[in-house]
Parts: sequence; structure tokens; C-alpha cells
Amino acid sequence: MTDFLEDDDAQTERVLTNLQTLRFVARQWRRRPILFSGVVTFTAMATLADVFVPVAAGALIDAISGPEADRQGTAHWMALAGFIGLAVLVNIFRQFAVRCEVPFSSANMADMTTEAFANVQRFSADWHANTFAGSVVRKITRGMWAYDTITATLWLGLIPSVSVMVGLGLYMLFNFFWVGVYALSVTAIFMAVSVLMATYYIRPQNIISNARDSELGGAVADAISGVAAVKSFGAEAREDARFHELAWVWRRETKKTWLRFVNTWLVQMVAVLALQAGLAGLLVRMWTSGDATAGDVVFAITAFLMMAGYMRRFGEEVQNVQRGLDEIQDIAGYAGKRAEIEDAAGAPDFRPGPGEIVFDAVQFTYAGQDRPLYEDFTLTIPAGEKVALVGPTGSGKSTFVKLVQRLYDVDAGAIRIDGQDVRTVGQASLRRSIALVPQDPALFHRSIHENIAYARPDASRDAVIEAARRARAHDFIMRLPAGYDTLVGERGVKLSGGERQRVAIARAVLADAPILIFDEATSSLDNETEAEVQAAMADVTAGKTAIVIAHRLSTIRDADRILVFDQGRIVEQGVHDELAAKGEGVYARLAALAAG
Ligand SMILES: Nc1ncnc2c1ncn2[C@@H]1O[C@H](COP(=O)(O)OP(=O)(O)O)[C@@H](O)[C@H]1O
Ligand SMILES: [Mg+2]
Repeated sequence: MTDFLEDDDAQTERVLTNLQTLRFVARQWRRRPILFSGVVTFTAMATLADVFVPVAAGALIDAISGPEADRQGTAHWMALAGFIGLAVLVNIFRQFAVRCEVPFSSANMADMTTEAFANVQRFSADWHANTFAGSVVRKITRGMWAYDTITATLWLGLIPSVSVMVGLGLYMLFNFFWVGVYALSVTAIFMAVSVLMATYYIRPQNIISNARDSELGGAVADAISGVAAVKSFGAEAREDARFHELAWVWRRETKKTWLRFVNTWLVQMVAVLALQAGLAGLLVRMWTSGDATAGDVVFAITAFLMMAGYMRRFGEEVQNVQRGLDEIQDIAGYAGKRAEIEDAAGAPDFRPGPGEIVFDAVQFTYAGQDRPLYEDFTLTIPAGEKVALVGPTGSGKSTFVKLVQRLYDVDAGAIRIDGQDVRTVGQASLRRSIALVPQDPALFHRSIHENIAYARPDASRDAVIEAARRARAHDFIMRLPAGYDTLVGERGVKLSGGERQRVAIARAVLADAPILIFDEATSSLDNETEAEVQAAMADVTAGKTAIVIAHRLSTIRDADRILVFDQGRIVEQGVHDELAAKGEGVYARLAALAAG
């Protein structure tokens, strides 16, 4: 049941160890050294003051009841001032520590999330094709809050707790040697057991729960973005049931995780009770043999109560830090992951030329396919040529375009544009030289103006309108409620398919790149609009290399050359009249069908 949602990410990405994850978190801390040292210094001072509170209390008792006590003197007032002053200092230092931690953590969270977003954006098209957007969203938000948990717990809680416990243990050691030895050893065992259980018992199961949690995010986003299909098939109840099943898979795993937290807590409490019983027993024995007074017994039990409080806190804090490390683990992994399609070291920008495209003995296989789609594929598109790609769906036309853009790397051979191997130049600069109108244009939920100007954000309003006119989009845009400032809805859902395509064409027109690619860019237009857009395309592509993928004969008739694709091979090529005249073959059949 869960397999269908198991994204590639979850399967192939390795889980980082605690240490590797902690190293990632430590890198965040180093972003703001001054604030960070403020947090550490003030916390250390607060902790130190805390350890001395019992000492100041002791001094006060001595001043009141010791042999030198003098009701008329000032010693007890001084001791009282010391006792109160120390308690005030503890709180002042804690305030300062927290006041450093607030700007420190919030700024680091903003930077860390920005970095995670930047990493994810640069992962390959293949990675994105295999990953649920909703899961990624969940991982990034979860990681952001986990950072806060880890930082606050470690620096304001865990490290001070350990210091106080060790401090109290040492204090006992110097006053009641064996009691101190006992307390320190039990504390050490307690800490070791807590950390080991968190690492080897809680963590593996927690990683599973988190994966299920990401899956839920993926499932919600997938179903919500496909809500039009859900509604049109009246399938809400089916989607509910599917989600319910996933939610219960999450519940099953999370229940296990939570029980492991509770079990760990149980072991910790047993250890605390053992310490309590052992210590009290030890002192009562010392009292029976005359080695300890009633007062000593009271002191040790009081000191122990303090330690037990810290141990409980320590136990919870270790669990929280572990929870945080497990939750930040995904984005820590993103930080160390290679983008797959990477720029070569020091790769220069692509130098746009006249627009010649060469496929030189290219072999290409999609990940997960056992057979190459392209094998020994050689083709030259001279600069300025208008090429039409036709062929059945699945024959590899869109893949051809993705390879030109270097969204995927070839297995063998090379693709060269204007003499530059696409692998040797910066990807972003390469893609900026290719204006693509995709099969299913993705618009942003921003204004029409911003969507058209996406290729050239600094374009003037006039340039945008001119591009829209050429794409035959201006008239419908003017009829929208806010014209060029109208928001188009997520992915452009508020526009019709044909309107979306014309916005995408306007975008490509404005890009003014030397290479233009139209991947079934007019498939959603009516015949009349298509004829108009075609006239515009002919005009826009003048003097440029153009690749046009289309089904309609009207769109490809005027091409300089028609390439007929079948299963990743070019099975026929030539101009329309030549191919149609052959009387047989794939293209002639297409032409006959179109002629009706
Ligand atoms: N990301 C992908 N992973 C695996 N196979 C893919 C991927 N994209 C496309 N394919 C497969 O490659 C073949 C060619 O697809 P495509 O180039 O989109 O065809 P066309 O555009 O001609 O319809 C199809 O069989 C398709 O299923
Ligand atoms: Mg296609």
C-alpha cells in the first residue's frame, strides 16, 4: 500500500548519521559568531552562578547558626545579599542568553531555509520528476523548526544540565567521597544509556515516522493539485479513503516511535529511582555505623533531589535533540547532495552564436528504463533552419528538446550548440539562449506582466505589450479584470489552455533568444487563432533556428525540413511535398489522415 508513494528521494537518499547531521547544524551556528558566543557565554555564566547557589545558601546558614553567628553583626546580611544576588544574577544571565538566542536562531532559520530552497531548485529535472513537491515542502518546514528545537535545547538546556549535574557530583565527591563516587557513576551511566537509547533505539524508528509524515505532505499536495480531476470524476470519497489509509500508515509507525520515547523515559526513571534508593541506603548504612549524622542524611537526600530533577530534564532534552536531529536530517542531506547535472568547474558562459545544433552519435537512456531511447543519434540543424518534429506520442520528441536544454546528460556522444559542448558551459547561460514554449506551460501565480517578462524581468511595459500582441494574447489580456496586472492562479489555472499557451509564446517572443523551440505550443488553440499565431511565429523566428513539434499539418507544412520520429529514431526526413508524395511511410499516412 505504501509503495506507490515511496518517492525516489526516500529510496535512494542515504540517511545521515547523528554526527553528520550535527555537523550540518554546527555549520548554521557558525553563521553568526558574535551572537553565538553571546548565547554560550551568558549560558555558561548562568550555569556557574546556579552551581554556587547551594554554596551561598550554606554560607547564609553558617552566618545565622554557626559558632561565630552574631545577631548584632553584619555578616548574615552580607551572606543574605550574596545569596539573593547570586539568584538574581542567574536570571539576568539567562535573560541575556535568551535575548542573544532569539535574533541568532531566527536569522539562521531564515538563511538555512533559503539555502535548502536554493539546493532543491538546482537538483536535476530527473530528481524533481521523481519527487513529490509536497514532501519536499514538508521536509523543509520540518527542518526549519527542528533547527530551533536543537539549538535552544542544546545551548539553553542540555549543556547547562550536564554542567550542573557534574558540578553537584564533584561537590559531593569532596564532601562525602563514596556518596560522590556513587552519584557520579550513576549519573554517567544514566547519560550514556540516554544517549545510546536515543541513537540506536529511538532514531531508526523516528526516521521511518518522518518519512511517513513527508509522504502525507506529498499525498495532500498531489491530490489538491489534481483536484479538478477528483471533482470531475466525483472521486472525493475515494481520495478520502486513500488518504485515510496513508494517515493510518503514518499513525502505525508514529505510535511505535512514540512508544519508544516512552520506553526510554521508563528506563531513565528506573535509573533515577535506583540512584535515589541506593544513595539513601548508603547514607542510612553510614549512619548506623556512625559515619554520618542525621544532618548528612538530609543534605545528601536534598542534593540528590536536585540531581534527580536535572536528570529528568536531561532525559527529556536528549530525546528532544534526537527528535530535532531526525527532523533536520533530510535538509542536511540536501546540503551535501550533488545536483547531478552540474556545471563543470570554472565553466564559461555559453556564447550565443547563429544557432547551429549538432547531435553527434548521441546515446540516451532515462533512469529506470532498461533500453536507450536514443542510440547513435546523429543530426545537424544548421543555423537559421526551421525544423519540424513529428511522430507518434512517446517517440522522443520532447526528450530531444530536453537534451538540447541539457536537462539530462547523454550516456555517450555529444550535443554541441554553436560549436560548444553543452556539458562544458554554464547551464543557466545555455538555457537563457533557448526560448522554449513547452507542451504544458507552467505559469506562476503572479501577474500576466510578470509571467511574460519572466525571460527579461527588466523589460518595459511597452516591450511586454508588443510581445503579447505578436503572440495574439493582447486582446484577451485586455478583457481580463485587471489587464496585465491580473493574477493567473496557481500554475495559471484561471486561464484557458489556449490563453496559457499564448502567454508562454509571448514570453518566448520577449526572450529574443537565438534558438526557439515550440513543443506542441499551439495544440490548444482553435484553427483561427492558430493561423494567426503561426503567422506571428513565422515572423518571430525569422533569422533564428526554430524547432517546432506539432501534430497539425498546417503548422509544419512550411518547415525547411520535417523530421519524422519513431521510437527515438528519425525514420523519414524531407520537405512536406517530398514526404507526402512518397505515397507510403509514416508521414504520408499522417498527411492522408489530416486531409480527411
Ligand atoms: N522522466 C522520464 N523518465 C522515464 N521515462 C521518460 C521520462 N520522460 C519521458 N519518458 C519516456 O520516454 C519516451 C519519450 O517521451 P517523450 O520524449 O516525452 O515523447 P514525445 O514528446 O514524442 O511524446 C516515452 O516512452 C516516455 O514514456
Ligand atoms: Mg512531447
